[in-house]
Amino acid sequence: MEFDFNINHLFPDKITLVGENSSYRKHANSKILQRNLQIVIEVLGQRSARAQQLTGSITTLLKSQLNNQRIYVLKEANANNSGLGCVIGFLKTGKKRLFVLDRDGNHNEMNPLCVLDFYVHESQQRKGCGLCLFKHMLHVEGVKASHLAIDRPSHKFISFLKKHFSLWATVPQVNNFVIFDGFF
Ligand code: ACO
Repeated sequence: MEFDFNINHLFPDKITLVGENSSYRKHANSKILQRNLQIVIEVLGQRSARAQQLTGSITTLLKSQLNNQRIYVLKEANANNSGLGCVIGFLKTGKKRLFVLDRDGNHNEMNPLCVLDFYVHESQQRKGCGLCLFKHMLHVEGVKASHLAIDRPSHKFISFLKKHFSLWATVPQVNNFVIFDGFF
């Protein structure tokens, strides 16, 4: 996704973490950067919603700030003729208080890290960009894929988790979150 402002100024790293407990706030310390950040996150949220056929976006900068969420943004620094760079996709995580059912049907009150939104631009899908984002997030958060709760995964995301992390056996839940064997 190309914008008419410099993505390389906005996102210093190949994958930049925006949000809770990140140093990004110090970087985006001007009104222009804040405005551009808002534009990028709005566009990403809308594109992700469209790809998942949701009625509205679940990712906005305001929502992520209010709910202590973290957004990992992947860019391609050398794209866009004029050298402005472009945005490839994003992954949003956040901790949620959930009642999680185990295999014996017991309710466990937990506060797991959840994957809340995940999107790679259509032109870049199936090229390893999603895996790059996902692995980076696991490293930064210090978690294993099997310890995550996933909010309403799409069929593409289910296939992704099966292929890259051998996650396929789910533990049935009564909410929209999906967890896999190895969660507990
Ligand atoms: N159909 C089926 N599986 C797919 C597809 C597709 N069109 N695209 C990716 N995958 C899965 C497959 O397992 C694929 O492996 P394969 O090509 O050998 O079949 C694997 O992902 C590819 O891995 P990556 O290239 O690392 O993943 P990608 O860069 O495509 O990113 C993502 C994966 C984020 C799910 C992307 O496909 C996407 O943006 N999809 C549309 C939005 C979406 O469904 N997001 C998840 C919403 S649910 C949530 O966020 C909690």
